[in-house]
Amino acid sequence: MPRIKLINIVGARPQIIKASAIGRAIRSNFSDKFTEILVHTGQHYDKELSDVFFEELEMRKPDYNLGVGSARHGRQTAMMLTGIEDVLLKEKPDCVVLYGDTNSTLAGALAASKLHFPVIHIEAGLRSFNKTMPEEINRITSDHASTLLFTPTNAAFQNLIREGFRSDNTPPYSIDNPKIYLTGDIMLDNSLYFADLAERKKGSLLETLSVEKGAFILATIHRDANTDEITRLKAILQTLKSLSEEYKLIMVMPLHPRTTISLKTNLKSFYSELLKCKYIRIIPPVTFLEMTLLEKNSSMIITDSGGVQKESHFFRKPCLVLRKETEWIELVKNGTALLVDADPEKIRNEFIKFINCCSELEYPGFYGDGKTAEFILKEIMWMFKK
Ligand code: UD1
Ligand code: UDP
Repeated sequence: MPRIKLINIVGARPQIIKASAIGRAIRSNFSDKFTEILVHTGQHYDKELSDVFFEELEMRKPDYNLGVGSARHGRQTAMMLTGIEDVLLKEKPDCVVLYGDTNSTLAGALAASKLHFPVIHIEAGLRSFNKTMPEEINRITSDHASTLLFTPTNAAFQNLIREGFRSDNTPPYSIDNPKIYLTGDIMLDNSLYFADLAERKKGSLLETLSVEKGAFILATIHRDANTDEITRLKAILQTLKSLSEEYKLIMVMPLHPRTTISLKTNLKSFYSELLKCKYIRIIPPVTFLEMTLLEKNSSMIITDSGGVQKESHFFRKPCLVLRKETEWIELVKNGTALLVDADPEKIRNEFIKFINCCSELEYPGFYGDGKTAEFILKEIMWMFKK
């Protein structure tokens, strides 16, 4: 019987990590059912944002790398559209799988839906209700161009219902008769799979950073609203610096190149001050196993990343979210993530709150059973009656 020809489209760091779970599930359980083709748009191209993940997560090398690189949104998306369209016309896949909400997701959704290839959206339905975020436009457009939509949370599922998606559609599914699912979060598959391996393979990183298990804070910053608005970036980092000194707590900060570029360009002397600070460890982006190790062994996480917010929950760490709103609202309702924006007073108050009451927090299983990739592949097989 012919296999289902599935094209995975990735471009940015978190998508490469998410796609690794699908690739692993195909190799382990469904290798006779699927032919996987991997298209990398080249949105992320630095080794530490791209190549390291293919190597470490044992992924197939991209079959196509479109090499689009960085550019303004319109130009970057246009280059991806052109490249993806060419690949789709050549490969004629049965379906196109997209992840998350980046410009690579948007380009994949537009190229595939216009050529009438069914789009499968993993991490569908998330909304921040803030359309000034580039990701919000990408999510809404991608969801409405999809045939199968896999939502990671009940809130995401309900967002789709509010936008007119129906939960009682019956096969055959199409862009006009899409199927929406409530699955778990595919990133939990990865965190569970790699947690022990991270300790075994990367444990020495803690020594290299001179930090002790359970006695440091992990922080990441990369959202455009924080990196490109210099007053916000300075307010966040100034507050974290003061708190680290007052509480004598080391803060490990693997910074996205976007943040480092902004610091070097706009806040040069403050950046040198940070580099000299006893309690701040600014380091380049780390690998997924290193990140997992740091998350597991930190005492608190401070971030504007979507993926890192969830991972804070997987590893039962309180999380300060450097944003006004979040798509992962169950974390905020649960009190284990607190929205602090870039507001020094909020960051300080909530930091102190967490320092004093960490042990009282609970972490219910919001994100499924860690077998989301298999569930998704079975549903795709069902759609194609395999
Ligand atoms: C993108 C996604 C964002 C996601 C993030 C994950 C969009 C609109 N944004 O943001 O949703 O959370 O990826 O990390 O798709 N750069 C490098 N090296 C690289 C790639 C980028 O130095 O390999 C620098 C460039 O200066 C570039 C800037 O980072 O201009 C922004 O890159 P871009 O891919 O546009 O967006 P991200 O901020 O990475
Ligand atoms: N991550 C990583 N190394 C880092 C920072 C993040 O491997 O230095 C991982 C992190 O564990 C998570 C994913 O990248 O799985 C999140 O990506 P990012 O924060 O870039 O984007 P977002 O999730 O906000 O879209």
